[in-house]
Amino acid sequence: MLLFDSITFSLSILSTVPITRAAFYYPTPAISFLEHILVDNWGAYASNFSSAITPCTNYVSQTGTTGLNSGRTTAAQWMRVMFHDFITANVSAGTGGIDASIGFETAREENKGMADLVALGTVMSNNLCGGAQMPFRPGRVDAFEAGKTTGVPAPETDLEETLLFFERAGFDKVDAIGLTACGHTLGSVHHGGFPEAVDESFVTPSNTNGGSNFDTTRGVFDPNVLGEYLNGTGKKGGPLVMSYNDTMNSDKRLYESDKNATMRTLFAQGVGFLDTCAELMGRAINTVPAGVQLSESIAIMPFKPFNTTFDFDQDGRLTLSGKIRILTPAAWHVGAEDEWDEYGTE
Ligand code: HEM
Repeated sequence: MLLFDSITFSLSILSTVPITRAAFYYPTPAISFLEHILVDNWGAYASNFSSAITPCTNYVSQTGTTGLNSGRTTAAQWMRVMFHDFITANVSAGTGGIDASIGFETAREENKGMADLVALGTVMSNNLCGGAQMPFRPGRVDAFEAGKTTGVPAPETDLEETLLFFERAGFDKVDAIGLTACGHTLGSVHHGGFPEAVDESFVTPSNTNGGSNFDTTRGVFDPNVLGEYLNGTGKKGGPLVMSYNDTMNSDKRLYESDKNATMRTLFAQGVGFLDTCAELMGRAINTVPAGVQLSESIAIMPFKPFNTTFDFDQDGRLTLSGKIRILTPAAWHVGAEDEWDEYGTE
């Protein structure tokens, strides 16, 4: 990171940046902070949000061996939380969606901004764990009470009701199959929580919650769940396809509901499946109550000042000091699809 103590220096940097990138500030401190979480994953000024997600098999709630042996996955938990917050949307009534109504305590002032964090956690889990790069639009508004709409698909929910839940949230059958397959490329179903789906034999000293993984790559956002399901290899689609208790096989009922046509189409996309997921999950996280206006996607700033202050020096001159984050881009295109390396020298 470079430290500058005069506005003159900043202006000379400005002149090297194309005019469209000359804006040095985001419209609000909240958006600037969300950009910090999204972009500053490593380096001197890291937000450390990403270190909770990566490595993508990480479980942040427990440390050391206990966490490693928990069989739980933080990246996957972000996505599941997002799904549960989203699925009670009623798009025709304009209610629900990503508003963090899932967590009542969000009414507390100290948790303000949770709705954007639910979406951001999903974007970052996807982006950092192998998915196609998803843009992030800020501007969600936290709910102050539970949503009026209830009902989240559970493993024992029948197909008709499951599809009604998705339809209510604006997702048809093809979308519902796609979004579920996308979510179920990460993580596991746990005996602790779902003993009716995953039997006790999964609980071992190195898997203390008895996680049964959806595919052979629990910590990678990849298309493996599709091939393993269709070809009967690896995890064969996972615990909600292969459960010893057929009532709990909700993924099987959903995937088979159009005779596997959607699963085959998704599989034929190869890594293009990741783009489909970015699109579907993008729709889910951008489903917000009527009246909530999301901002444009956060564009990454190559030069971003932070910790800036105005002071008067001993001669009474006004000085601007602070730090400037400089990113070296793989390509000079501003956007979430780019790869940026952060470097810093003091
Ligand atoms: C019919 C629809 C669905 C049903 C019945 C369902 C059910 C479940 C269940 C029972 C679990 C196990 C949770 C645990 O043991 O901790 C699970 C895990 C998970 N679900 Fe779903 N799900 C559905 C759709 C989705 C969708 C649409 C997404 C997101 C896009 C999603 C994302 C996840 C993720 C990432 C996990 C792993 C969580 C972890 O490892 O902690 N699910 N799901």
